[in-house]
Amino acid sequence: MTQRIGALALAAGKGTRMRSDAPKVLKTLLGKPMLWYVTKALATLYAADVWTVIGHRAESVAAAFPELAGRFVTQTEQLGTGHALVTALPALTQAGLSHVLVVNGDAPLVTAESIEAFCAAALAADADVSFVSIELPDPGAYGRVVRCDGRVAIVEAKDFDPARHGTPSGEINAGVYLLRLEAVAPLLGRLSNANNSGEYYITDLVSLGEAAGLRVLAVNRGNDAAYLGINSPRELVAAEEILRRRIVDLHIEAGVVVRMADSVRLGPQVRLAPGVEVCGPLELYGRTTVAAGASLASHCVATDAVIGENVVVQSFCHLDNVRVDADCQVGPYARLRPGAILETGARVGNFVEMKKSVLGPGAKAGHLTYLGDAEIGAGVNIGAGTITCNYDGVHKHKTVVGREAFIGSNTALVAPVTIGAGALVGAGSVITSDVPDGMLALGRGRQVVKPRK
Ligand code: UD1
Ligand code: CA
Repeated sequence: MTQRIGALALAAGKGTRMRSDAPKVLKTLLGKPMLWYVTKALATLYAADVWTVIGHRAESVAAAFPELAGRFVTQTEQLGTGHALVTALPALTQAGLSHVLVVNGDAPLVTAESIEAFCAAALAADADVSFVSIELPDPGAYGRVVRCDGRVAIVEAKDFDPARHGTPSGEINAGVYLLRLEAVAPLLGRLSNANNSGEYYITDLVSLGEAAGLRVLAVNRGNDAAYLGINSPRELVAAEEILRRRIVDLHIEAGVVVRMADSVRLGPQVRLAPGVEVCGPLELYGRTTVAAGASLASHCVATDAVIGENVVVQSFCHLDNVRVDADCQVGPYARLRPGAILETGARVGNFVEMKKSVLGPGAKAGHLTYLGDAEIGAGVNIGAGTITCNYDGVHKHKTVVGREAFIGSNTALVAPVTIGAGALVGAGSVITSDVPDGMLALGRGRQVVKPRK
């Protein structure tokens, strides 16, 4: 039979030790669910031949991963990791796989490189059952690797008895296995749940394989942190910190200036051009991209922001799902909400909020302004305290301001309303009807000056 390797991620468990009702594999690291990291690494190696066992809150896990649709296997009752494999076997066999690489879905630090190195070692030895072992100073709740009389076994922490199994060696099971399906299938019926957890363990395939005379191999990867599993909130934040440092270091190596790097959090899909400067504390998530020459000062949080060349984002800005074109200036203290677009050279200053609005090339909103559902033309000046009144309590309405118009301070633009190009609106106006191009509009009480009483 020709060799064809696919992968299986185990993600059906509840994650009781996380003390949370949400499925464990949906817990995030740097804004992405832990299962995302696992399946991403697997897809790098096995393309579409990646199956995922789901069970606890299966619908919400499936909904979070539309890219895995059609490759889910549902384990209705979570009777253990061995039972998860049994449940997936028909799908794997039907796909014509010769080998399956099984990975726990709670190990988001796994890398394609590390798995590849393990598989190469296992295939070179022509192993039927192989797994990754690592060395930990404290074996904690991990399955312990026990070697005796030239045979290897994995003994789960709950079942480990020093009197029977000897002193723990510090070598533990990482939760990554390469199994030759034809060799392993006959063993699956022999898995038993007669242990201290009452579960069917995938790890028992090691001793069953040894007993059946199969080629069994533990591939020791030393202290490779890529295989740390996440079972508790403490382990979640510890793994996130390792991942955070890994990603920040990659950016630094690629030529990004990362100041206060210990407090910079960058999601795995964030792209920063070489030479970009950022300063912590700072958080960039999602598909945020920052082009050459741009900089972000401390205390900024951005998600899915597209930031153009030479943009300067000063401290304390929030950007969520926005586009900021080249040469713009933002902040300090600006809030750009979904759909905000700043065209080339536009400027947004302190305490300005924008939502679903375009600020045209070179336009300025310097201070204390709300722009919602607005289209602001090139070169417009929005005076301090200008508010688009876009909501009538039922519907949202649009405000249009033509190019080179000047909106005086403390103006309320009551939408739907259009201010023509080059028009001037006096400070303190409440504008409820359209202003034609080039006209002056005043919408306020005239000042009276009288002798004092
Ligand atoms: C498992 C291993 C242990 C290893 C450790 C590495 C077993 C029996 N033990 O322990 O030797 O050191 O991983 O991190 O495998 N799952 C299912 N269906 C189930 C049960 C679990 O899909 O019925 C999934 C979970 O969602 C999880 C993964 O399998 O992603 C591992 O399960 P978990 O309960 O975390 O196993 P550990 O106790 O950590
Ligand atoms: Ca685990």
